[in-house]
Amino acid sequence: MEKKSFRSNGWFGRKGKDGLIYRSWFKKQGIPADELTGKPIIGICNTWSELTPCNSHFRELAECVKRGVFEAGGYPVEFPVMSLGETMIKPTAMLYRNLASMDVEESIRANPMDAVVLLCGCDKTTPSLVMGACSVNLPTIVVSGGPMLTGKFRNRDISTSDVWRFSEEYRTGRMTDEELSLAESGMCRSDGHCAVMGTASTMACMVESLGISLPQNAAIPAPDAARKVMAHISGREIVKMAKENRCLSDLLTREAFENAIMVNAAIGGSTNFVIHLLAIAGRIGVPLDLSDFDTWSAGIPLIANLQPSGKYFMEDLYYAGGLTAVMNQLLPQLHKDCITANGKTIEQNCMNQPNYNESVIAAVNKPFNPISGIVVLKGNLSVDGAVIKPSAASTHLMQHTGKAVV
Ligand code: FES
Repeated sequence: MEKKSFRSNGWFGRKGKDGLIYRSWFKKQGIPADELTGKPIIGICNTWSELTPCNSHFRELAECVKRGVFEAGGYPVEFPVMSLGETMIKPTAMLYRNLASMDVEESIRANPMDAVVLLCGCDKTTPSLVMGACSVNLPTIVVSGGPMLTGKFRNRDISTSDVWRFSEEYRTGRMTDEELSLAESGMCRSDGHCAVMGTASTMACMVESLGISLPQNAAIPAPDAARKVMAHISGREIVKMAKENRCLSDLLTREAFENAIMVNAAIGGSTNFVIHLLAIAGRIGVPLDLSDFDTWSAGIPLIANLQPSGKYFMEDLYYAGGLTAVMNQLLPQLHKDCITANGKTIEQNCMNQPNYNESVIAAVNKPFNPISGIVVLKGNLSVDGAVIKPSAASTHLMQHTGKAVV
């Protein structure tokens, strides 16, 4: 159903001084009057920053989104929000997640936009943007920046998580200055965020499994042309979402959250998933608690062979079929009818996605590890619960007797 009157009409569609004041300032940017009324104004919420290297290609990505918005008959307006670069910010980016989400929320609410595209990448930029957008609840789609290409060091695959291993080898004299410098140059060799199933990749998978991005959003490598195509198509889709008034609350149902927990279990996603998903659920008003992670992860095996739980990288996941191929394997368990950003159900998006590489994505009945996901622990050390990712934990530490140092 076509939306008759867009929210932005409250700024640009008014007569006399009340409209003039807004229109004239937009015309100042060379925008003709007919662009401002009768079509949806699409905000592009950009976390580009040279201080967030994982998101440094987002200006180009925003241009791709804009082309899609124009093509579909919307008008795009790009705006900056606080960007959280995981590796740069001290003492930790997590300290500012909620602050960034407030920036996002108020920037969307206060401005003339009918729908919004969230450009997310480095760890906290995804939850902060999604949380802020949930509080306003406009039609919203996420475009992730994508993982970087797999790092290379002396013909070996490496990732940003190898920093700790290299550091130990250097400290014990098993790695020279020259070797360390070579590793440094080969570790982050393209645009994109960390290429393992760390928090950034987990968050990109989270938005795809929640249905608030297009299929394949999570794994397309940042420098792959398919990432730009997906950004362009997301631009088209958000115009459609604005016209149909398909808001975040229409997509983020309780079932969508349960799907995200099951998918996170199957991919061995980060434990940070728990705190961010709970915060997003709180913003959109869906009841969710720690016990849901236990309940909905149970019986879901680890089928994605990705570091740190396994062997491969996000680039390999994309070549193997992407997250949609993982979700295709899980369809019997998932809530298949959840509606996603493109108006199709989870089932319609995933059902025919082949798995091209069983070394990377296993069948559910032949998993890499029957134990997966997030397990919630309770005891006298953590009365309210603590989380562990058993697939990435050393087996010898699964049972331990020792002194508790608090
Ligand atoms: Fe940005 Fe790892 S430092 S995702």
